[in-house]
Amino acid sequence: LAIWYQWTTRTELPELSKVSVLMRQRNKVENTLRAMQHAGPGTLQVISDFDMTLSRFAHHGKRVPTTHNILDHRLLIDEDCACNMRKLLKIYYPIEIDPSLTSEQKIPLMVEWWTKVHHLLIQQKIQRDMLAQAVQESGVILREGYEVFFDRLAELQVPLLIFSAGVGDILEEVVRQSQVFHPNVHVISNCMDFDANGVLRGFKGPLIHTFNKREGALLLAAPLPELRERPNVLLLGDSLGDLAMADGVARPRNLLTVGFLNDQVEERTESYVEAFDIVLVKDETMEVPNAVLKFIT
Ligand code: C5P
Ligand code: MG
Repeated sequence: LAIWYQWTTRTELPELSKVSVLMRQRNKVENTLRAMQHAGPGTLQVISDFDMTLSRFAHHGKRVPTTHNILDHRLLIDEDCACNMRKLLKIYYPIEIDPSLTSEQKIPLMVEWWTKVHHLLIQQKIQRDMLAQAVQESGVILREGYEVFFDRLAELQVPLLIFSAGVGDILEEVVRQSQVFHPNVHVISNCMDFDANGVLRGFKGPLIHTFNKREGALLLAAPLPELRERPNVLLLGDSLGDLAMADGVARPRNLLTVGFLNDQVEERTESYVEAFDIVLVKDETMEVPNAVLKFIT
């Protein structure tokens, strides 16, 4: 059996042997992969975070904007608002990724950050018609190999749930402009609420931030009929908070979690390896998720 394991990974998943791939329990990963392969694509669902997971963290040495940061465009917000949003990012982003704080300690501060930013955005009377151009000019870019990832899932009719604490309307526009908004894609996020004139007046539904995805999963993902009967889950995220995205799955059988470790690598490696089955260190590609998909389907 041991030889078989080695053969499986060495021959069919050489991507898992790259130095940027860390695994706490390689055997567990291999067992899960084989169980998922055996069960087939009809039992599979993929749940993925968006910002810094499907989108890149950096490209050509520059940070890639999150969906919130794409809104930092003169068509949408004025200089004053942009300045305030950047100030808030400087204060709260280090808290979001601080390995010395617990999620419980972070939660009230994340609520504060999101609430303040949404409030600033609403004051700007953002027009829905302008969002597409802002996305076009933002420099946002998905991870290398995203086409294969999205196209393969669509071809197999495997549902892909994109579960984001970002801004849903922007996220959807990025996916649309990347030409991968296939019918199997479902989005749960903070969606903008526009008035009859197409002017932003608020956000719909409960606020989703990085560390309350469990509540979102139970409330918003669990009822989706396309996902309910699929017990095998491939989960992708870049935050420890993303691990809760599968908490709404009714009868989970096999769960394989992949974590992109983009920032504060040294400080966070231990906690990521502890929490995710596969950790990808400073990897801006979909190479490993694509290899996993190829193997299990
Ligand atoms: O899609 P995802 O759940 O990753 O979206 C949340 C991300 O958006 C967070 O990781 C956070 O750093 C980022 N964010 C931001 N500006 C805000 C609020 C969140 O860039 N105002
Ligand atoms: Mg993210």
